Order: sequence, then C-alpha cells, then structure tokens
Amino acid sequence: MTTPNEQPGGVLHVTDSRTGRSYEIPISEGAVRSLDFRQIKTSDDDFGLLCYDPAFLNTASCRSGITFIDGDAGILRYRGYPIEELARKSSFLDVSFLLLSGELPAKDESAAWSAEIGKHTYVHENVKKFIDGFHHDAHPMGMLVSTVAGLSTFYPEAKFVADPARQREQVVRLIAKMPTLAAFAYRHAMGLPYAYPDAELSYAGNFLNMMWKMTEPRYRPDPVLERALDILLILHADHEQNCSTSAMRVVGSSHVDPYSAAAAAAAALWGPLHGGANEQVLRMLQEIGSVAGVPAYVERVKRGEIRLMGFGHRVYKNFDPRASIIKEVADQVFSVTGRNPLLDIALELERIALADDYFISHKLYPNVDFYSGIIYQAMGFPVTMFPVLFAIGRMPGWLAQWQENAADPEQKIARPRQLYVGEDLRHLDGELGG
Ligand code: ACO
Repeated sequence: MTTPNEQPGGVLHVTDSRTGRSYEIPISEGAVRSLDFRQIKTSDDDFGLLCYDPAFLNTASCRSGITFIDGDAGILRYRGYPIEELARKSSFLDVSFLLLSGELPAKDESAAWSAEIGKHTYVHENVKKFIDGFHHDAHPMGMLVSTVAGLSTFYPEAKFVADPARQREQVVRLIAKMPTLAAFAYRHAMGLPYAYPDAELSYAGNFLNMMWKMTEPRYRPDPVLERALDILLILHADHEQNCSTSAMRVVGSSHVDPYSAAAAAAAALWGPLHGGANEQVLRMLQEIGSVAGVPAYVERVKRGEIRLMGFGHRVYKNFDPRASIIKEVADQVFSVTGRNPLLDIALELERIALADDYFISHKLYPNVDFYSGIIYQAMGFPVTMFPVLFAIGRMPGWLAQWQENAADPEQKIARPRQLYVGEDLRHLDGELGG
C-alpha cells in the first residue's frame, strides 16, 4: 500500500444518472472529500448527495501523522518507526514521548520526561475514597473509567483545552496516574491496602510494585517481567483510528476536558470486540479446557455459533505484527513464571485455524490479544485486569490523537449525518392515552 503522500492527485468524473449532470471531484492523498459530493443535487432544495458509510468502513475522519498501518503487509509504525524496532530498543515512556511530540527523546529529554511522569503518579487522597465506594466485585475497568472521568473534578483547569501549557499538564497527569488508578482498582477488589507509587522504579516496574507489593519494605520487580510489561505497553500504545481512539477524538471535538474524553475512550475500549477481547480469549481457552477440545470448538466457530476471540482484525488481513512480537515476549515471561497451561490450547487453536479454509478465506489470523491474555495471566493478573492493562498502554496514543485533533484547523465538532428511514410525517389522532 502506498502512503497518502505518495499517491498522485487527480480528478474523479461523476455523472448523476438522475439529472444527467457531470461533476469533477478532486482526488488528493488517495481520497475524495465527502463535502465535494454535496454539490450533486436533483433540485435547488435538495440537500445534496451524502456518503453512507455505517461503521466508517471506508471513511477517513482525519489526516494524521501519528501511526501508519498497512493491514495487508502487516506493517505498523509509530511516527515512521517500525513497531518491531520500538519494541526491541525503546521504552514505553520514550514511545509515549514519540507519539506525543513526533520525535524520540534525546537521553537528557528521556530522563527529564521520566522524572516528570514519576512526579505525577500520586493521586489525590479523595480518589481512594471514591474507589472505596465501589462494590467489592466491581469490574476494575468500570472503576478505571469512572476514576479517569473523576479526575476532571480535581483539575478544573483541564477545561482550558485551547491552552497548550494546560493541555500538556493534563497529558502528563493522565499518563502518570493511569497505573496508579489501575493498581488501586485491583487492590480494592482484592481487599488489599493501596500501595503507593515508587518514583525510583521504571513506569512498568512501579506499576508492578503498586499491584503486588505486600509486606516487603521495598518491592523489586523481576527485570524480565518488568521489560515484558513495558513491551506489551509499547505494542498497545497507538493503533490509529480504532473504536476507542475515534471516541477520544469525537468526544474531544466538543472541547470537553481530556479526562472526560479519555474516560469515553476507555469505555469504548472495554467492549469485547475491542480491548475486552483478551479477557474473552482467556475465558474461551478455559471453556475449551484441553487440546482435545479444540477441533469441536473450531467446528462451532465455522457453523457461525461463536467467534474465535483474538482472531480477526478490521485492518490486518494477513497477520498482526504485534502478535509476532508478543509470541517472543511470551517465551521470556514463561521462562520466569513457568508455562501457562492454556498456551498449549492456544497453540493448537492457532495451528488448526491457520490451516483451515474457513479462516484462510475469511483472512482471520491471531491478533495482538490472542497471546497477551495468556502472558498477563502467567504474570499473575486476573482476567478482569486485561482491558485495564490495555488502557494504560493506549493512553499516550489517545492523548496524541486528541492533541492532533485539537490542533487541526480542519476539524470541528464531530457530527455525522444520517439517512432517515423512519415514519413520514403523521399526526396524533383524538385523545392521548385513550
Ligand atoms: N471468528 C470467526 N469468524 C469471524 C471472526 C472471528 N473472530 N472475525 C470475523 N469473522 C467472520 C465473520 O463472521 C464474517 O463472516 P461472513 O462474511 O461469512 O459473514 C467475516 O469474518 C467478516 O467479519 P466482520 O465482523 O465483518 O469483520 P470486521 O472487520 O468487522 O471485524 C473484528 C473485526 C471485530 C476484530 C472481528 O474479527 C472479531 O469479532 N474478532 C474477535 C474479537 C477480537 O479478537 N477483537 C480484538 C480486535 S484487536 C483489538 O481491538 C486490539
């Protein structure tokens, strides 16, 4: 696939069979502008031609310089850097800096950025109080969505979204506080006291500290698990205009504060067809129960009774490059934690599915979530924390996209059109409630 800026410009000739009139619609960056179709009318009082695109299958909602995906070739790049190189050589915080600013930080910038994030990891003590108000079996993702939204009440200045300095403050706070909110949600569900951030640890290491610290005076994360988690966060950091990122942009386009917009994005992420998929993968593998149960399960999928969770992607139709990296991470994690018995079921499922005509013809391959859940489980995370981990990783992507949207002079409040297919004008007859 050529990138939009490699595409030659041109003109689309359109003839409207209703009127016989012809139009020239400019083509630029591999796209036509929907608004150029508005001039195509059957009469002066006609609204003009609309483009109908349920679920935005073929609509670019923005011009973006953040993430490039070529779904057919299995390519994913942040700001031009291949995901494979970033996963091997960079850190999650440096990748966050890259997504937000466009460049990887120099050594001193990286240290300053890390220190700045470290300084903002604490949350107001009142946040603990409203986490305390949740029921003991509340889903941590529900708690996260609510506490992210709740942060807007602690930082009322966040509403000044046009002020770059204020914008940056909220960006730092959101990235810094996500692991704290996530770990506090977990500790609340477990009935454990909250463990406070340790600024001497890395971003991932500190998160593990807040999750698992018990009576030891100082928590020391296992370096293999710490690095594995950091890589998983990098892999999830951005993925262009997916459901949750689109939610961030759409909600942010109303100029609401970024906490409210990020809460909406996190809510969108929670669905089982999106970030909730890795939780569903684990439940699916548990339901299959054994390698012997795989063929019967695959048959049910082919009969259309169920979907194979962790398979398929709207964009990747050959392979998901993140899935290949994740498989390597899995081996490193299992060398520390021991092998997750569900891995054998997953491998068998992948083997059978990849050789089966149904999956080949539907271009269904394992996506990033097929293996991430197995790794998270081996590291000790309960399944309910899986979408929460995804949300921590995706936060810098949401924020970079939100900033880009806010700075784009072509953007306005998002407001799609509809094709009205309901009742024509009608009137109430006689008495109401008769
Ligand atoms: N298992 C079985 N069949 C599938 C699957 C699957 N996982 N995914 C798609 N199909 C089939 C559909 O039944 C449909 O078949 P048909 O044409 O014979 O009716 C065809 O493939 C196309 O499916 P769509 O739903 O139109 O594909 P779409 O691009 O809209 O969906 C999605 C992408 C939502 C990811 C889908 O593949 C899915 O539901 N996968 C499982 C959930 C999952 O793993 N989500 C995580 C995505 S990655 C992420 O969000 C980070």
